[in-house]
Amino acid sequence: MTDMDSGQLLVAIRSGIAAAPNAGGAMKQAVQLLKDGMPHYAWVGIYLLEGDELVLGPFLGKPSPHTRIPLGRGICGAAATEKATIIVDDVNADPRYLACSIETRSEIVVPIMNGDAVLGEIDIDSDQKAAFGPADRALLEQVAALLSEALSDS
Ligand code: SME
Repeated sequence: MTDMDSGQLLVAIRSGIAAAPNAGGAMKQAVQLLKDGMPHYAWVGIYLLEGDELVLGPFLGKPSPHTRIPLGRGICGAAATEKATIIVDDVNADPRYLACSIETRSEIVVPIMNGDAVLGEIDIDSDQKAAFGPADRALLEQVAALLSEALSDS
């Protein structure tokens, strides 16, 4: 995807989030637009931090067995603990990986932060190895910032 396309998608996501009636609607809009806009995003979901567990919210793709992930587990738990985006080019080579689908080859997890506090994270899987690069990171970190506002307003 070109930067121009990423920019157009971000504009659409910003509008969708702004038009959503509440935080749940904002998360659903973001998940839908990311899934539709990015063909290599096979699974798109948002986890919200509840206590010391990440709880699965809106998602599109095959149902995941990991609906609640303790902070110490998985790539999701690592991203929330480190408060930083994690890109894994080959999930089968990463011992932290919790399998969601046998077809998944790479993953990006982007924390949704409010200041220093983790509110949740965007989690995306691809069926291609090394599917996520700097353009995906830039797009998703901007979407995470928009979601932070939507989650904090409600
Ligand atoms: N792969 C994630 C678990 C979530 S599923 O991908 C939906 C992880 O390792 O934390």
